Amino acid sequence: MLKDELQSLLTSVKEHLAEITDADQLRQYEFDILGRKGRFTNLARKISAAPASERPALGQLINTTKQELEQVFQTVKESFAARSTADLEPSLDVTLPGVHSAQGHLHLVTRAIEEIEKIFLPLGFSRMSYREIEWDHYAFESLNMPKDHPARDEWETFFISEKEVGKYGRVLLTPHTSSGQVREMEKRKKRGEGVRMVNIAKCYRRQIDISHLPMFHQFEGLAVDTTVTMRQLIGTIQHFVTHFFGEGRKARLRPYHFRFTEPSFEIDVTCGICLGRSCAYCKDGWSEIGGAGMVHPNVLKAGGYDPKQYTGFAFGFGVERSYMMKNNLNIGDLRLLYSNDIRFLEQF
Ligand code: DAH
Repeated sequence: MLKDELQSLLTSVKEHLAEITDADQLRQYEFDILGRKGRFTNLARKISAAPASERPALGQLINTTKQELEQVFQTVKESFAARSTADLEPSLDVTLPGVHSAQGHLHLVTRAIEEIEKIFLPLGFSRMSYREIEWDHYAFESLNMPKDHPARDEWETFFISEKEVGKYGRVLLTPHTSSGQVREMEKRKKRGEGVRMVNIAKCYRRQIDISHLPMFHQFEGLAVDTTVTMRQLIGTIQHFVTHFFGEGRKARLRPYHFRFTEPSFEIDVTCGICLGRSCAYCKDGWSEIGGAGMVHPNVLKAGGYDPKQYTGFAFGFGVERSYMMKNNLNIGDLRLLYSNDIRFLEQF
């Protein structure tokens, strides 16, 4: 009976569909059943052989069977489509630890500058950043180093212009932050104030080796007032050494000569690389970080202060040199700081 055949076709299609696993197989099977010569199509044609009285009911059954077959094929097709997009999406495991994106940090020298600034601000020093391109007048002349004075040789200077401009002289790349001294004094004197500043800036000299760079940073302290003493200078240096290098590190003042201070010293700290034992960097267990002294009367005068009423202290230290002397940092060559090698910088 056609009716039974249609029913069993529907049942067997449903069973077989459950076994189909890929889309190609499915397409082929649908063609075998519903195609022009498919099993269902062939069965449906048999209606013409049925007695006329049964045809309307059979016709209806053929239609509903066809709809049902189409429906089951459609359902399976949709489940295949959903599965294939699911395969493309990465599965999300919320229990896995997150992936951290790489995070950079400030350059060691920038960090050192921030740290130095923080040490001096509470003592009432204002943070200044005087210029890199400077007049001869501020870098040398006003600091008691007249033109052609041999002391200038110590500052192996890059001159920018040949032309002399009145009392200002030639233009140069400042070889030290001391050139901010007279600039600051001129400014404060006009306001009728004393001076207490720390000038942190870039400096340039024609030299490069394990402990020298052609471009480096210094920080310059300057205090000018009617009651400034050498005890205050020593106390200020000690404050810096304790806060920057930590307890247990020693500093010493070694008599020296600078044209812009009298008396003058160089300041050494116990070497942070060999901790005072002596190494290739320091040679004798001490490392020089800069100079200091009581401001020379001629410099006070150049800044507009009367040396009979005012006294001052000044110091100028290398930022990179000081940073290298921190405990256990163990950077044995100053040039590494600017080699821009990410493998070096990432270690800090
Ligand atoms: N400007 C000096 C240098 O670059 C360092 C220095 C020495 C600064 C003595 C000072 C000072 O303020 O008083 O070598």
